[in-house]
Amino acid sequence: MSTIFEHSQTTRTSNWERGIVTTVTIFGSGNMGSAIDTVLTAGGASVDHIGSADPPGPVNGDIVILAVYYAALKDIIGKYADKLAGKIVVDITNPMNLETFDSLVVPADSSSAAELATALPSSRVLKAFNTNFAGTLNAKKVGLMTTTVLVAGDDADAKASLIDAVQAGGVEAIDVGWLNRELLFDRCGDCGRFHDPPAPICPVCWSTNVEPTKVEGSGTIHMAIFLHQGPPAEGVDYSTPYPVVVVELDEQPGLRSTGTVVGASNRLVRAPGAVGRLIVAV
Ligand SMILES: NC(=O)c1ccc[n+]([C@@H]2O[C@H](COP(=O)([O-])OP(=O)(O)OC[C@H]3O[C@@H](n4cnc5c(N)ncnc54)[C@H](OP(=O)(O)O)[C@@H]3O)[C@@H](O)[C@H]2O)c1
Ligand SMILES: [Zn+2]
Repeated sequence: MSTIFEHSQTTRTSNWERGIVTTVTIFGSGNMGSAIDTVLTAGGASVDHIGSADPPGPVNGDIVILAVYYAALKDIIGKYADKLAGKIVVDITNPMNLETFDSLVVPADSSSAAELATALPSSRVLKAFNTNFAGTLNAKKVGLMTTTVLVAGDDADAKASLIDAVQAGGVEAIDVGWLNRELLFDRCGDCGRFHDPPAPICPVCWSTNVEPTKVEGSGTIHMAIFLHQGPPAEGVDYSTPYPVVVVELDEQPGLRSTGTVVGASNRLVRAPGAVGRLIVAV
């Protein structure tokens, strides 16, 4: 029996179900630090905090959540890297240019979590909470829906531990894949055509020789909408128009995909024939 098969046959029992207390240290006690504390404490976790003025001391939690702005990560890595070895370290930052809010401060083919994973090679780095608002974590609802935390990372057990802890607190959490931030599109190994949405069979030649393949992401913007408003929900801020675009990628005529874009301001996105670069996530 293969390991994968064995794993799929095992029903995982969470720490919460086994009566084991999950220990969590949160750097920061601001909007997100306190909202995440509320959720995890409700799920039975033991939570403590470290602030910017605290002298470097022990890090108690098995799960460590960096509820700080991107700019503070460097300071924390400098002071705590050795104390974070072996721990699950969660990046929640949205590394935006905080003056203009129109671009990222990490390269489009990297991410703050990927940088953190490189800086902390002995830690198990996850990305989570960055698509949630503090208000919707506190309320555990977005409109009528239960708030959902998206968890990405390369360590399956680390992801499962965080997902268990969040779910125990009454918020939904799902595994959304790896930290790798390459734009991958299915490409047929026989006729060479890309296709999207992903499918195991090439829609042109019916080959099953299909592999996810990296594309650059550059292309022509064919359609754009700007999100100004959504269903009312406590803590949700729709004041910044946020472009969602359909881009025809340079790799192949007709290969179009939806996402958000960098390399074009909101004014330029509206212009006919504007070009931009699709991004995956932060
Ligand atoms: N607010 C949201 O709804 C939201 C949503 C998604 C993602 N995020 C992301 O979450 C992060 C935090 O946002 P926030 O709104 O919670 O900010 P915030 O309310 O301003 O809180 C920031 C916290 O960072 C702490 N901090 C700064 N430098 C530190 C250091 N060197 N060591 C330990 N703690 C340090 C501060 O602690 P001291 O008071 O001790 O200085 C403060 O508690 C940001 O990266 C943001 O992009 C926020
Ligand atoms: Zn084909």
